[in-house]
Formats: sequence, C-alpha cells, structure tokens
Amino acid sequence: MTHHAAQISAIVLGGTGYVAGELLRLIAGHPRLQLAAILSDSQSGSLVSDAFPHLFSVYPTLQFASLEAVESVLRAQAACAIFSAAPHGVSASRVDHLLNIAEQSNIRAHCVDISADFRYRSTAAYEAVYHHPHAAPGRIASFTCALPEHLPLSPTPHIAHPGCFATAILLASVPLLALKLTDARFFISGITGSTGSGRKPTDSTHHPLRHSDLYSYNVLTHRHVPEIIACAKAATGTDAEFNFAPHSGPFSRGIHVTVMATLKNAMSSADVQRAFNNYYRECFFVKVGGAAPRIKDVVSSNFAHLSATTDKNSIAVTAVIDNLTKGAAGGAVQWMNRLFDLPEHSGLTATAPGWT
Ligand SMILES: NC(=O)c1ccc[n+]([C@@H]2O[C@H](COP(=O)([O-])OP(=O)(O)OC[C@H]3O[C@@H](n4cnc5c(N)ncnc54)[C@H](OP(=O)(O)O)[C@@H]3O)[C@@H](O)[C@H]2O)c1
Repeated sequence: MTHHAAQISAIVLGGTGYVAGELLRLIAGHPRLQLAAILSDSQSGSLVSDAFPHLFSVYPTLQFASLEAVESVLRAQAACAIFSAAPHGVSASRVDHLLNIAEQSNIRAHCVDISADFRYRSTAAYEAVYHHPHAAPGRIASFTCALPEHLPLSPTPHIAHPGCFATAILLASVPLLALKLTDARFFISGITGSTGSGRKPTDSTHHPLRHSDLYSYNVLTHRHVPEIIACAKAATGTDAEFNFAPHSGPFSRGIHVTVMATLKNAMSSADVQRAFNNYYRECFFVKVGGAAPRIKDVVSSNFAHLSATTDKNSIAVTAVIDNLTKGAAGGAVQWMNRLFDLPEHSGLTATAPGWT
C-alpha cells in the first residue's frame, strides 16, 4: 500500500488577479498543497475557470468564495497555508482577520503576503510610501521580508514577499554587498512585462501602447526602492544606494534587470562568476553564468538566471526572472514550503517552456 503524506490546505486571497491565478496554477501541480478556497471580492460564486480559462482542466467546477465562506473553510482546517495576492492596502486587514481566526481555533497557519503591506518594519515607514494608515500594525512583527536565497530560516511564522523587481535586483546586488566586492552604490536598469501591473488596464499598460514599444517610468522615484534598500540592509548589514530606472517592456511575462557598480578591486568576469556561484551554491533556483541571460529561459518557471561581467573596476550583473512566478507566486510557494518544512523546491521544479 502506498502511504501519501498529508495534504496541507491552501487559501488564496486576491481572487481574479494575475498573481492569484499563478498561485492556483502552482498549487494545482504541488505534491503537498491542496487548494481549499480562493477569495474573490468581485466574483464570488462564479467559476474560477471563467476568470482563468487556462486552469479549466485542474479546476473545472471550482467557484470563487466570499470572505464568509473562506472563514468557515479555514475553521475546518488543522493546518493552512494562506497566500495573499490582494492589493496593498487591502491585504493587511484580510490577512490579520484570517490569522486571528487561525489563532483562536488553534490552526497551524503560515502566511506569505505578496503585497507590500508587511514589507516594512514600522507603520511610519509604510505610510511614508503608501500614504494611508497601515491596517494591521500589530501583525508587522510576525512578518519578515526577505528572499529565501538570502535568509536560511525565517525568524517569524509569516513572510512578506519582497516583490518582483526587488527579487531580480536583490539577487543581483546582495552578493556584491555580502562579499564586499563593490561600493554600496548601484545603478540599475530594469524592464518588466505587462502582467507586472495587474489585470486592470491603464493607459500605460494597454496592449496597443505597450506592444512594439519600450519606455521608462518613475525613474529614480520608484516606490519599491525603499523596500529594496531595507531587504539589502537586512541581508548584508549595509546601507546601499539603488539608483533605479524601471521600464515597461513589450512582453507579458518576465523581468530583466542590469545592476552596475564599481568594484573595490579589479576582478575578472570569471572570478566574479565563481564568487556568485559559490554564494548561491545551495540555491536550487539560481543559475549564474557568463552568457547574457534571456527572459525566455526562465519565463513560467521559478528559476533566476544571472550573468556577471567586469571591465577593470566596473561590473554589470544581469538577472532575469518571471515576475509572476519567482517574482510573486513561485517565490511565495518557495517560502511556504520552508515554513511547512517541505523540500524548498516542492511543486516548483518545472522548467521554462523555452519558446513562448
Ligand atoms: N503582477 C506582478 O507581477 C506582481 C509581482 C509581485 C507582487 N505583486 C503584488 O501582488 C498583488 C497582486 O498583484 P496582481 O498583479 O495579481 O494584481 P491584479 O491583477 O490587479 O489583482 C488584484 C486582485 O485583488 C482583488 N481585490 C480585492 N480587493 C480589491 C480592491 N479593493 N481593489 C482592487 N482589487 C481588489 C481583485 O480580485 P477579486 O475582485 O476577484 O477579489 C483583483 O483582481 C499586489 O499586491 C501586487 O503589488 C504583483
């Protein structure tokens, strides 16, 4: 007789959003997570496969749940993985509410919040960037914001995912700080696909405007930079400067960032690649090479490909990820695996299709 390990129930917040859809896709292929409910504010009672036709074969009859339905599903669990892909400003109160229920009912619950709501260590720091009061100040201390590659063990029961651009930028820059290879002053050009801005179309994300075009936005003022600075400091103890020029790319999935800095001492490209490979030697999802990485090699997967090139005292590190997978849902599942003591790569080993 085959013995199957017990399934862990998963609840997803953020209903019809792009990241929630990617979470559902990953949970469907996960050996230990089983979807118990997906909350939708706008579509409760309608079919998940209407919002996500690509998920029809794995969720043919599943409906979006209301908050009340999610609450009663949660109360029936012994353990629960709570993923939030709700927008910032909405996520904190929902997460807090569900964690209160879990605590009152003695449920082993871990949460990974993919929104920005628990990325800051104080309400003041959060409110300075997002300009509204934090909805659950009492929960902040139970969240840690970090990439799994940069923090072996979470000191808290819950995790705040650092975000998509932050994932690529931190993967490229943290080894430079940790190994003290460069000045703590980075110049970054990054390009994101259109799914990075979510399901609701706007003038800057609408297909006819984005297709066959490339343009920057929020140069040197991107609101995620303070979060990147805080994560880099937590990972390395260094206050670094991140001068960031984000761009909107003419593709739907993927992030490509190049981080440039000044080396403390001249190094060859091969030496830096060796140092990066050694730094990430335990990291299943990170590959470091010399060839310029391409987004098609990682899109739809949880992998990150990096390259490092030097010329005298200059260094350029390029990182590519999928914004919805490693940069959001996949990175969240990776953390959830750790929080539930599962192998870190469970449900995440599928490679990129290569041709999309
Ligand atoms: N897209 C990315 O690449 C990416 C990467 C990293 C992090 N994130 C973060 O992940 C979260 C989800 O991003 P996304 O791209 O999936 O966003 P999205 O496509 O805009 O989806 C967000 C979903 O949240 C639900 N929602 C609940 N209350 C809402 C409200 N008051 N206003 C608007 N929507 C509300 C909506 O679904 P229902 O109406 O069905 O509930 C909506 O479809 C955000 O916090 C985002 O910052 C996104």
